[in-house]
Amino acid sequence: MDARAIVRTKRDGGVLSADQIDAFMEGYVGGEIPEYMASALLMAIFARGMQPEELEAWTRAMLSSGTVFDLGHLDRPRADKHSTGGVGDKVSIPLAPAVASCGVAVPMISGRGLGHTGGTLDKLEAIPGFRTDLSAEEYTRALEEIGVALAGQTEDVVPADRKLYALRDATGLVESIPLVASSILSKKLAEGIEVLVLDVKFGSGAFFPDVERGRELARTMITLADRMGLKASAILTAMDRPLGIACGNALEIAESVDCLRGAGPLDLRELVCTLGGTMLRDAGVAGDAPEGAHRIAASLDDGSALEAFMGVVENQGGDPATIEDPSRLPQAPDLETVSAAEGGCLSYADVRSVGLAVVALGGGRRVLGDVIDPGVGVRCLRQAGDEVQVGDALFEVHHTGGHGLDEARAHLAGAISIGAEAELPPLVLEHVEG
Ligand code: URA
Repeated sequence: MDARAIVRTKRDGGVLSADQIDAFMEGYVGGEIPEYMASALLMAIFARGMQPEELEAWTRAMLSSGTVFDLGHLDRPRADKHSTGGVGDKVSIPLAPAVASCGVAVPMISGRGLGHTGGTLDKLEAIPGFRTDLSAEEYTRALEEIGVALAGQTEDVVPADRKLYALRDATGLVESIPLVASSILSKKLAEGIEVLVLDVKFGSGAFFPDVERGRELARTMITLADRMGLKASAILTAMDRPLGIACGNALEIAESVDCLRGAGPLDLRELVCTLGGTMLRDAGVAGDAPEGAHRIAASLDDGSALEAFMGVVENQGGDPATIEDPSRLPQAPDLETVSAAEGGCLSYADVRSVGLAVVALGGGRRVLGDVIDPGVGVRCLRQAGDEVQVGDALFEVHHTGGHGLDEARAHLAGAISIGAEAELPPLVLEHVEG
C-alpha cells in the first residue's frame, strides 16, 4: 500500500477503493502510517468530499477497528438517538428512560462536552456516585435487565474515531460532513442498535449553524446508515436559542427530573416526545410518530419514565436520593443575576456564547483533563421572543467564588440582543426520512 498515492488520489478528486481505505485505516490505527500522512488525507477528504460508496467503506473500516456489540439476543427492539449537540440539550436524559419504559431497549453510548456544547456523560456524572465507565459485561447486563445503558465510549469502541477525531480537532478539520457522519455513525453502529433517530441542530448554538448544511448532514447520515443496514431518520431542530432554561451539569439533571415528572420547560418536553415518538415508530412499537409521541408523553405523566430513570441511576451507582430531591444535587455556592440594560424583544444573537459562559465558570473543559465543577451554570430566565423591561432578570449565574465570572458575564452580554421583534423558526423544523 502506497499511502502517498492514496492521498494524491483524493487530493485530485478521485474515488478511493474499499481496499485502499481498509489498508490506510489499518495502517493508521496500527501506528505504521504517521499522523502527518493521515492529516493530509483528512484535508483532502475535507476539500473533496466522499462518494457514498467511499463513505460506506470509510465508516466500515472505522467500525472494524474495535468492538461491535451484538445485542441480537434481547427480547426487544433496540433504538438510540444522537444529537449533533447544542446548549442546554439534555434531551437524552429523560428520553432514554421514557423510550425504555415503552418497551424499546436503549443502548446509549454518549460523549463528553465538546467546545461550547455540554456532554451527556458530564451531566450524568453530576449525580453523586453515577458511573458511566461501564465494562462491556455491565453494558450488556444493563440492557438485558433494565433495558437502558447510559455509558461512555470505552477504549475498544471505534479506536479509529478516537485517533481521527483528535487529529481533526488539532488540525482544524472537524466541520466536514463525511467526516462527521462517519464519526457519529461508526460509534452508533458499534452500540448494537437497529434504529437511530438523529436530532440535527441548526442555529447559532449548533455545530453547523446553517440549516442547509444541517439538512445535508441529515441526508448524508440517513443514506450512509441505510447502506450499513441501520434504519435512521432525522429531525431538524432549532438551536438558535438554548433548550430549556438550565445550562450546566447538575442544573440540567434537575431540569431533566422535572421533565420526567411531567413538568419542566415545554420545549424540552416537545423534543423528548417528538424524538421518542419517532424512535417508537421506527422500532415498530407505535403505528406512527404522533402515536409514539403520545406514549412518550404518557410515560412522563404517569411516572413510568421516572421509574425507569431511577432504575438506571441505581444500576449505575448513582445516589437515588438526589433524584427524589434534586435540591440534594451539587450546587454552586454563589449566585448572581444578570439584568436587562434596555427594554424590547429578547433574541439570542449567539447561543454559543451561553455555552462558553458555562465553560468559563468551570462547567466544561477547555483542555482534556480539566476537572468539571458540576454545580455551576446559567439559567436562562427569559425566552427568545419575550418582551423585557430594563432591570428584568435575564440570567441566573451559578458560580463558585467568582471563578470565571467576568468572562461569563462578557459571554452572556454577547449572547443576546434586545430590540425589535424577530421571527423565530419553529423548534421542530422538519423531519427527514430515509
Ligand atoms: N461528534 C462526533 O462524534 N464526531 C464528530 O465528528 C462531530 C461531532
